[in-house]
Amino acid sequence: MPKPRDTWGSRLGIIMAVAGSAVGLGNFLRFPAKAAANGGGAFMIPYFIALLLLGIPLMWIEWTLGRYGGGFGHGSAPGIFHSIRQKNRFIKYFGVIGIFGPLVIFIYYTFIESWTLAYSCFALIGKYAGITDQAGMRSFLSGYQGLEHNGYFQGLGPAYVFFLITFLLNIVVIYHGIKGGIEKLCRWALPMLFVFGFLLMFRVLTLGAPDPRHPDWNVINGLGFLWNPDFSALRSARVWLEASGQIFFTLSVGIGMILTYASYLAKGDEVVLSGLTSVSANEFAEVILGGSIVITAAFVFFGPRDIQSIANSGTFNLGFVTMPLVIDKLPLSAFFGFCWFFLLFLAGITSSVSLAQPAVAFLEDEFTIGRKKAVWFFGIATFVLCQPAIFFLKNGVVDELDFWGGTFLIVLFAAIETILFAWVFGMDKAWDEIHRGADMRVPGVYKFIIKYVTPLFLFVILGMWFWQDWIPFILMKNVAAADKPFILGTRIGLAGVFCILAFLVKLAWKRRRPQKAQVAR
Ligand code: PFF
Repeated sequence: MPKPRDTWGSRLGIIMAVAGSAVGLGNFLRFPAKAAANGGGAFMIPYFIALLLLGIPLMWIEWTLGRYGGGFGHGSAPGIFHSIRQKNRFIKYFGVIGIFGPLVIFIYYTFIESWTLAYSCFALIGKYAGITDQAGMRSFLSGYQGLEHNGYFQGLGPAYVFFLITFLLNIVVIYHGIKGGIEKLCRWALPMLFVFGFLLMFRVLTLGAPDPRHPDWNVINGLGFLWNPDFSALRSARVWLEASGQIFFTLSVGIGMILTYASYLAKGDEVVLSGLTSVSANEFAEVILGGSIVITAAFVFFGPRDIQSIANSGTFNLGFVTMPLVIDKLPLSAFFGFCWFFLLFLAGITSSVSLAQPAVAFLEDEFTIGRKKAVWFFGIATFVLCQPAIFFLKNGVVDELDFWGGTFLIVLFAAIETILFAWVFGMDKAWDEIHRGADMRVPGVYKFIIKYVTPLFLFVILGMWFWQDWIPFILMKNVAAADKPFILGTRIGLAGVFCILAFLVKLAWKRRRPQKAQVAR
């Protein structure tokens, strides 16, 4: 007899867990930087189109497919895809991406998350309090990351300690399972995150014009910097790609994670309204909170010219270099600095625990080994895999992992899921399945959108990528000569991990006895 699978404690529990996974570093760091660098308010046009045509449909697809596969005892993409067409022997191998992608993101996401924990402590003890300019803050960050030895840090030691703490915290939460770990964490972390977000937003929106020499460096103009549209940006294919990429990343769709969460639902549990609720919570955190804090705060202190270069100089510079400087100019700076970095930490940990879940569920469900053992395997494997991201950060390993896990595979996997759902499972059956136990009906136009528009949109994005970026990317044309061996090594390593996972899928099905394949719940 297979062991009974874990379940959610309540409907609110899964909604909070999905929203917790969605609200992450992407909302507070990636979104404002992308929007400001890609035409400000005009960015929001492709952004909302992508939300309606890609994000929301994929959210429903993943909730529905996950719940369906869970009914057959499968909690990860290979098994869930297999349950769509059980006679097909190959379909499950598409699902390997749904374990591999989250694993790749987990490897670098936990490291970045550990910086936010470290900086919350630094804010409280005033470690960076004496630094007054961007150059100083940048060198503080480089010293912390072990990229240079300087007066602030002599090596990677502190960063490694914070990484160990963060990694262990993640493993402890995952070890306690869906209901006892992830749901519990999200139930207190998500509301707390929103409280910190509101506090910071309120503080920023009441800053007025803090520099008396520049009365036009005020909050209204700061908001205008992000929201005034530059419509010429709409003609650029890149802006459309960036907006679609942001939607995937921020909603955590197209990666296999929601498939796993939804697999713990019962057959008649609601998915239409629940999916939409988690999308709304994420969009609120992103557009309202994320959209008003960082850019506005940086604008009123640094002005329109500097902020342009800050926004273009990298996603993390805004969070780790500019924000501490801005906050240090306010009263109660230690407290607000802590609020900012701890907000990022909470956003990060509720996302990273979810990234672990597809791999853990795969081991649990397909090898029937029990959660604790599965978490041990996962913990040891990912701990080893994290090391290159930590030690070879300066050689571009994290960016390489982010391209494969956080960008390319997401779009590819989303395309696969949509085709399987609308064309292999069949749109009529899919429509009935979406509405099983539903509290509201999906507008009829989505039947057309999911079948034709979403896949077409995805193939156009993939096609444009191949056309514009593929050859120089594969040939590492923009990589410095000294970094090429590291990038090549990362690619070979990733290919190796992918092959191991594909082999494990093969093994799992080989040892599966026929009656275990269909444990209807
Ligand atoms: N949605 C998260 C963010 O905005 O930071 C990132 C993420 C988490 C992506 C979990 C994918 C995922 F499965």
